[in-house]
Amino acid sequence: MALFLANKRILLGVTGSIAAYKSPEIVRRLRESGAVVRVAMTENAQRFITPLTMQAVSGYPVHQELFDLQAEAAMGHIELARWADVVLVAPATADFMARLANGNADDLLTTVCLATKAPLMIAPAMNQGMWQHVLTQENLQILQRKRIQVVGPSEGSQACGDIGPGRMIEPVEILEKLSGLFAHGGMAGLRVLVTAGPTHEAIDPVRFISNGSSGKMGYALAEAAHEAGAIVTLISGPVVIREPEQIECVHVITANEMYDAVMRKIIDCDIFLAVAAVGDYRSKTIAKQKIHKDQAAMLLELERNPDIVGSVGKLSPKPFIVGFAAETENLLEQAEAKRKRKNMDMIVANRVDTKVGMGTDDNEVMVLGEKRVSLPLMPKQKLARELIMMIASAYQAKQ
Ligand code: PMT
Repeated sequence: MALFLANKRILLGVTGSIAAYKSPEIVRRLRESGAVVRVAMTENAQRFITPLTMQAVSGYPVHQELFDLQAEAAMGHIELARWADVVLVAPATADFMARLANGNADDLLTTVCLATKAPLMIAPAMNQGMWQHVLTQENLQILQRKRIQVVGPSEGSQACGDIGPGRMIEPVEILEKLSGLFAHGGMAGLRVLVTAGPTHEAIDPVRFISNGSSGKMGYALAEAAHEAGAIVTLISGPVVIREPEQIECVHVITANEMYDAVMRKIIDCDIFLAVAAVGDYRSKTIAKQKIHKDQAAMLLELERNPDIVGSVGKLSPKPFIVGFAAETENLLEQAEAKRKRKNMDMIVANRVDTKVGMGTDDNEVMVLGEKRVSLPLMPKQKLARELIMMIASAYQAKQ
């Protein structure tokens, strides 16, 4: 697998786990891939492996102390935080995860992690019981919500004799994940917000108005953007597909909830992908009890839901906006009109029938923006990767 690590500045944090014996191999492999590596070690890491070893493999003095006058005079902790293109902590202990999740800055490594603007990736390593403990799992969720990439752990026999999850993933896998942050997809480090799936607009406690969106297209795009190195947040309506790993997911039911979730997350977002089939209307009243069919006909009064992408289009500055249009007739005219009306940079037009569009595994689209490009019938995952490449280059061209 090609690695995109040449000339990248990697700060490797090493914490106190037996897996620290693999840290020199990580450094060696990173340097072989052309990266420049500096190492910061916690006090406990130094019980497992010496700073001298890490200095020898990295070619730079190792950063150990927060209050070290000599080190601060050479490259201080803030300078180190600014220097890094990415901070990788491998191995990351349960204690380190807890301190980071808590926002502690009680040693050099946690201070740098808080001070840096670079993406943060951690490779946990610990006893299986510690990993599965509810507190570690809660810390994990906090870190993932804060967009810290957590890679691994893997399962297997452990140094302590236990068998289970908690082993640090192999250096070669860590490098592949790290390289993903700099992948040629042009989305490295970009913040991407994706809406997916339908919304449910309640009529009574057991009924709702909705549509046939499965969420497959939106989820595939979220995963493809993540693969291309983006920091992705997925806002999903009610779907039955599995939450993608490593992606922050916010679950909503109604269009109003989706609107609120988008507006909370849109600040700092570089690209907004509006893939959701949002309900345009909701029932004006929601019956408290189940409505019984004692009338021959019934009238339902509907009112408009907020237009999410339309509202994002009015922001200043606004992110790069890619909308979708699912149509049964006049596909291109309808889509182009929506693109202009909602101030989108691009719109992906898909026909809806039994084989393509909504609820299906495959899709066939026409992309309307600066150029018009048609993408033939293919699985939604493959299509998503192609779309992400196109969106990334259109975004870069606009900068
Ligand atoms: O989920 P799947 O089964 O994989 O199906 C994928 C899909 C067909 C749902 C998807 O590819 C798609 O086309 N999504 C858009 C559906 C649509 O027709 O939306 P629209 O024409 O109602 O809206 C146009 C755009 O405005 C969309 O980007 C939509 O997300 C957005 N919108 C619409 C209404 C609203 N209140 N707020 C919005 O943001």
